[in-house]
Amino acid sequence: MSETREFLTAFLRRPTTMGAVAPSSARLGAVLASVVPTAGPGGRGNVTVVELGPGTGAVSAVIAERLPAGARHLAVELDPAMVAYLRRSRPDLEVVHGDARQLGALLAEHGVEHVDAVICGLPWALFDDTTQTEILAEISRAIGTTGAFTTFAYLHGMALGAARRFRATLRGTFQEVLVSATVWRNVPPAFVYVCRRPRT
Ligand SMILES: C[S@@+](CC[C@H](N)C(=O)[O-])C[C@H]1O[C@@H](n2cnc3c(N)ncnc32)[C@H](O)[C@@H]1O
Repeated sequence: MSETREFLTAFLRRPTTMGAVAPSSARLGAVLASVVPTAGPGGRGNVTVVELGPGTGAVSAVIAERLPAGARHLAVELDPAMVAYLRRSRPDLEVVHGDARQLGALLAEHGVEHVDAVICGLPWALFDDTTQTEILAEISRAIGTTGAFTTFAYLHGMALGAARRFRATLRGTFQEVLVSATVWRNVPPAFVYVCRRPRT
């Protein structure tokens, strides 16, 4: 099955966890992945990135292109069908079947002590405030003072109070929150938040 069809099938099966009808475009993926280090400290391959909600792996592919040899790329996905699809289609990806709300425990289980970047495709608009805060706390602990976190939102969503509240929550959680230019080559058009330095 093609990636788009697999994605749409997953959306029809579980609309409340997918939150989108089509995978992200390569253009949006490139902005999300812009924080992925292309080399480890001193040029070594000692890099770990974590992707949350990889879906069919559209963004995973863009991340993988940037990563240096020997880097770890873990992808945490809740939907078992997406997990099976990713394990079949992207054997190089370390697919973790789990909930982003338990990110810290999942990373510990997989022996991860340091994370350079969290790239996130989670459907924030479908989460209540408590879930958003819980997941952002897990992400903050994972990236610490040196890492970066990116996530995206759809442009049309900004007409809704919930999306504006989420932006305020991000600004309350991180000292630095940058908003990218709109990525028009995505269905629907979207933009990326680039966040660093969690507030203590
Ligand atoms: C909008 S799709 C994004 C897929 C992909 N990153 C992209 O941009 O094309 C959201 C994905 O997040 C997953 N997801 C939703 N809630 C999750 C959670 N609590 N933990 C991990 N994955 C979750 C869904 O199963 C789905 O695959």
